[in-house]
Amino acid sequence: ALAFAGTANAQNYPTKPITMIVPFAAGGPTDIIARIVGENMSKTLGQQVVVENVAGAGGTTGIARALTSPPDGYTIAMGHLGTFSAAPATYPGLKYDPINGMQTIGLAGGTPILIVARKNLEAKDLKEFVAYVKANPDKLNEAHAGVGSVSWTTCTLLKGQLGVPKLNAVAYRGTGPALNDLVSGQVDFMCDQIVSVAEQVKADTIKAYAIASPQRSPALPNVPTTKEAGLPEFQIEAWNGIAAPKGTPKEAVDKLVDALNKALNDEGVKKRLLDLGTVMPTAEERTPAGFAAVVKRDADKLSPILAAAPK
Ligand code: MLT
Repeated sequence: ALAFAGTANAQNYPTKPITMIVPFAAGGPTDIIARIVGENMSKTLGQQVVVENVAGAGGTTGIARALTSPPDGYTIAMGHLGTFSAAPATYPGLKYDPINGMQTIGLAGGTPILIVARKNLEAKDLKEFVAYVKANPDKLNEAHAGVGSVSWTTCTLLKGQLGVPKLNAVAYRGTGPALNDLVSGQVDFMCDQIVSVAEQVKADTIKAYAIASPQRSPALPNVPTTKEAGLPEFQIEAWNGIAAPKGTPKEAVDKLVDALNKALNDEGVKKRLLDLGTVMPTAEERTPAGFAAVVKRDADKLSPILAAAPK
């Protein structure tokens, strides 16, 4: 009888609001993408997708909360390259396993990485910035969203390549609050996802030295690639995507996958995401298996580098 009730519940899913946990502060890239996509998913699902910000420990607190919730489709998470592919190598006691202990739903968007700095930092381009960092490794403050976050992970790669792994860093509960401090000049630079910095770069409240992608972004056509700016080895593609606890019923997973796909196909949603510099996921990346392959690919790539990085 219990099994029957469970099946019937899954078929009627969803009958109440769904919580989408964002593991960082409001106003950052993960929050922005979750709210844009979640709002449209609500229409397809016929129930509100309610964003809940649970920040801390580089996003691992919120993801642990989401993935250890009952697997009923009513708690899901918007994670990313950091929480799903980088965190396992940086937190030995991590309470979740993105490779074997998580139900992937789909990729929500690719998020190119930019090296950004406070507007009045002396270095006027990437070459000057690199020279300045190397000459003054004790003078600059990097902002990031905690060990294991995307900003931390990508700047850790950058600092490794520049030979300054131990530069001063200030941890925030997300790059939303970090960006506020960059705009007001309290910190010097960070590596952030394009989604939250695009508007500030256009408004000229901060400067962007380069985008770590093979091509410039249509959202910020004046920002050179790292290759054009003289640092071709710094290439990294970040992303955000949705996952649920392992064991979530197939009926619920199918409906979430469909709702995400419909959101990404909606013209209004697409325009908002593209204006912020998001790269739209392929059809394959929008499937649970396709997204799981992305998580694993990047975990395999990052683990050996991050395991050795200073935390
Ligand atoms: C955020 O939403 O604050 C960012 O995704 C944090 C990060 O850099 O990982």
